[in-house]
Amino acid sequence: MPSPPSTILRRGPRPFLLLGAALLLAGCVEEVESPGIDPCDTSIVNYENVGAPMMLTWCVPCHSSHLDEERRQDATLSVNFDTYEGITAQLDRVYARAIEAVEDGGSAMPPGGGPSRTDLALLAEWIDCGAPL
Ligand code: HEC
Repeated sequence: MPSPPSTILRRGPRPFLLLGAALLLAGCVEEVESPGIDPCDTSIVNYENVGAPMMLTWCVPCHSSHLDEERRQDATLSVNFDTYEGITAQLDRVYARAIEAVEDGGSAMPPGGGPSRTDLALLAEWIDCGAPL
């Protein structure tokens, strides 16, 4: 027959464990909701789903190392976006011509315009987050 004191002993520590778990959880939630958190930590854009397809559609038709001079439509010879290395070597310029110039009415790329605002926002996010692979 079980005696009441041993039951009390077995149940004793539980409230303290729960309190510990609650404090741990509160700590985590506080961290996630902190306003200083980097949005890139939760971003899912990468080279495969945004960087490469955007450049392939809108930039590579003129900026490709596979195009000879006559077929580049005067696109700067040293500026090529058919490889990840080619893009990241010019990341600031890509941002300036494809994002900023569109926003401030400057000399935008591609010259005729075209990408939707949604696609440009994704490209901007990819560059802002350090052009992840
Ligand atoms: C129809 C052809 C064409 C397409 C498509 C095109 N460009 Fe260009 N690009 C040019 C020409 C022509 C120049 C040289 C004249 C100039 O700089 O405006 C150039 C120059 C550049 C330069 C070098 C000058 C600088 O500002 O540093 C960058 C960077 C550039 N383009 C980025 C892009 C990006 C990014 C895209 C795609 C979003 C793109 N271009 C699409 C024709 C094109």
